[in-house]
Parts: sequence; C-alpha cells; structure tokens
Amino acid sequence: MDLTLVFLVSFILSSLLCGVSSASSRNITSMFTLGDSHIDTGNALVMAAPVMPVWIDKPPYGETFFGHPSGRFSDGRVIIDFIAEELGLPFLPAFLASSPNVSHGVNLAVGGATAIEVSFFETNGLVPFKLLNNSLDVQLGWFEQIKPSACDGASEEGQGYNDRDCLDRALFFVGELGVNDYNFIWMAGKTEDEVKTYVPKVVDTISMAVERLINQGAVYIVVPGNPPTGCSPAILTFRLSPNRADYDHIGCLRAVNAVARYHNLLLRAAVGGLRGRYPHARIVFADFYDPIIRILENPSHFGFAGDALKACCGAGGGAYNWDPSAFCGMPGVAACGDPAAYVSWDGVHYTEAANRYVADGWLRGPYADPPILSAVGRS
Ligand SMILES: *[C@@H]1O[C@H](CO)[C@@H](O)[C@H](O)[C@H]1NC(C)=O
Ligand SMILES: *[C@@H]1O[C@H](CO)[C@@H](O)[C@H](O)[C@H]1NC(C)=O
Ligand SMILES: *[C@@H]1O[C@H](CO)[C@@H](O)[C@H](O)[C@H]1NC(C)=O
Repeated sequence: MDLTLVFLVSFILSSLLCGVSSASSRNITSMFTLGDSHIDTGNALVMAAPVMPVWIDKPPYGETFFGHPSGRFSDGRVIIDFIAEELGLPFLPAFLASSPNVSHGVNLAVGGATAIEVSFFETNGLVPFKLLNNSLDVQLGWFEQIKPSACDGASEEGQGYNDRDCLDRALFFVGELGVNDYNFIWMAGKTEDEVKTYVPKVVDTISMAVERLINQGAVYIVVPGNPPTGCSPAILTFRLSPNRADYDHIGCLRAVNAVARYHNLLLRAAVGGLRGRYPHARIVFADFYDPIIRILENPSHFGFAGDALKACCGAGGGAYNWDPSAFCGMPGVAACGDPAAYVSWDGVHYTEAANRYVADGWLRGPYADPPILSAVGRS
C-alpha cells in the first residue's frame, strides 16, 4: 500500500474512533428546542393569554401527568419531556416563563408558530388576522439572547468554558414546524398543488435555521418531519367531504397527508445536504408521520382502544368528537375516561400515550435516522 493511502486510512480510522469515543464519554447536558404546539411547554400560554381566549390553562389539560394544566397542549408530557427524562435532564422550562432556569437548556417552541416569518402570511393575504410573532426566526433570536446565560450555568464544568463547548453538549430540536404554515395556506382556500408550492420555502427556512445553529456550535440536532395532519380530528371536521375517494384506507384525508409527505421528503433530502456540508454535526431526521400512521392502522396492537380518529377531549361533536365552538378546556367539555386509549387529545394535539410512543421511536428507533440515543453515543 502506498504510504499516503496508509496515512489516509489510519487518519480516517482514528477520526472515526475519536468521534465515537468523544460522543460516548460526553453526556448531553442541555436541550434547546424550537418548534410549535407539539413540543411547547408553556410559551404560547404566556404569549397568547393577554390577547386572545386560551383554554389550555384549564382542566382537563395536564390531568394524566402533571395533575394540573402545565402550559402543554396535552393531557401530560410532550415528546421532548420523554427525551429529557431519558437523558437525565429536567423538564425544559418555557423561555417566556418568568425567570426560567436555563442551566439545562430551555424550550423556545410556541404553539401556533410557523417556520416562515409571520409577515409573509399577512402581506400575501393568506391569513385574515394578525398572527402572534413567534415564527422560527423569532425563536432563533430568543436562543441567541439566552445563549450566554445558558452557557454560564454550565461553567462549573471547567475553566475556559465557552459557548461553543457548552453548545456541543446540547441536544437541539428544530421542529416539528410547517404544520401551521400549511394549515394557514389550506384555510386560505388553496388546492393541494398550490399548497405544495410553499413546501420548498418552508423546508429551506428550517434548513437555514439548522445551519445557523451549527454555525454557533450546535452539534446534535434533531429535525422532526410533519405528522399526518390529514388524520387530525379538527382537520377531518373542517374538510369533511362527501367524496369517499378523498379518504385513505384509515379514513384520513389524502390531500392533506400528501402535503405532509411531500414536506417530509424534501426535509429528509435537506438533512442529507446538511450532513454533507457539516460532517462533524450529528443531524437526526425524526419521522413524525409513520409512528402515528402505524398506531392508527392498528390501534389495539399498540394499546390504543378508543376510536382512533376521535379526539379524547371534546363535546361529542360529529364523527370525530371535535366541535369548533366547544374546545377542550371550555366549561362542559370533558375528556374521555381513558386518554391512554386515544391518539388525539384535543382534536389537534396528541395524547401523552401517543407522544410517548413517538419519543420512544425517536430515541431508540425505528422512527429516527439515526436514533437519538445512538447519535449522542448512548447506545
Ligand atoms: C453519562 O451518563 C451516564 C448515565 O446517565 C453516567 O453513568 C456516566 O457517568 C455519564 N458520563 C459522563 C462522562 O458524564
Ligand atoms: C438551576 O438549576 C440547576 C440544576 O438543576 C441548579 O443547580 C441551580 O441552582 C438552579 N439555579 C437557580 C438560580 O435556581
Ligand atoms: C417579529 O419580531 C422580530 C424580532 O423581535 C422583529 O424583527 C420582527 O420585525 C417582528 N415581526 C413582526 C411582524 O412584528
């Protein structure tokens, strides 16, 4: 073998070994999470409560796990809570909560958030109302604001500790995002083909956010795709169709799910591109679509016994237990007896049981590439 080749091979081997050992000997010490209501731990409540009616601060929200409403859009824990537990970290405080302790990271996700900046929807006449300013770029701004104090908290770890050292032991989430972008565009009366024309812009926005974090020292980043929103009780109710051909074998709306799958396809490709440009980063693509479909196709196999397309918490409206004038949390709107048997909690968001299944599939596989625990060197 030519000497250069020997050198090259041993260099590659040693950098591989080095990569593996440094990942397994350094645990994740914090999490920074950007996204929307699927992982919000209280930001939307703080942001929205002064300007619009909110219901997530009322029972039965939080009844399964926290025992009281926690600012989460669920009966209990959301996906990132299960991830934090697995990594031995505390539940992430919401950035907008009063004096959050950010020493183990912070949650920047806000219910209702879009990937694309809100002015885009307003100036293009896609929404007939003013949106709260909480899109991905705003959340990145919050992160940059909190970063110095988050890394201060970690300085006990050693001298000469700087932001970069602190961030390369953090696990970032960028998403899920896009669900709200596409919802607004669907609600503006666009067709499937028209909604699809916005997908590249949403995906580019997410991809540029990941890049901005990597440029600041992020190494471990999870990028979740979109769930099958065409199976959500709220969307099924809004877009009720007399045409059987609009529904798939589960009873979900084909067109809405086709947009979600197209988003996931482009996002997965974008993650591939980022890995090529930043080989030192560990970027996980997390599949939010298949785990929900798997449950809906065969609920009893996964311990879900309720009517899989019905919301657990609702006023009994229609085929999906979802009534746009009687949200979960309003007086007289009750939860089902066994939320763990349902996929949808309030018609839009998942139950703790569904969140746990998704989180587990992201941590250990098969719903993440690579599984989070192997990306961070814990398996
Ligand atoms: C990493 O975490 C595991 C268990 O969570 C612990 O046993 C181990 O000591 C930690 N390693 C480091 C380098 O902190
Ligand atoms: C923040 O939390 C960390 C660890 O959970 C703790 O050591 C620290 O004292 C807390 N800081 C404040 C200001 O409460
Ligand atoms: C949203 O907030 C960002 C950062 O604070 C600001 O730059 C932007 O102008 C705001 N956008 C709107 C539409 O208010």
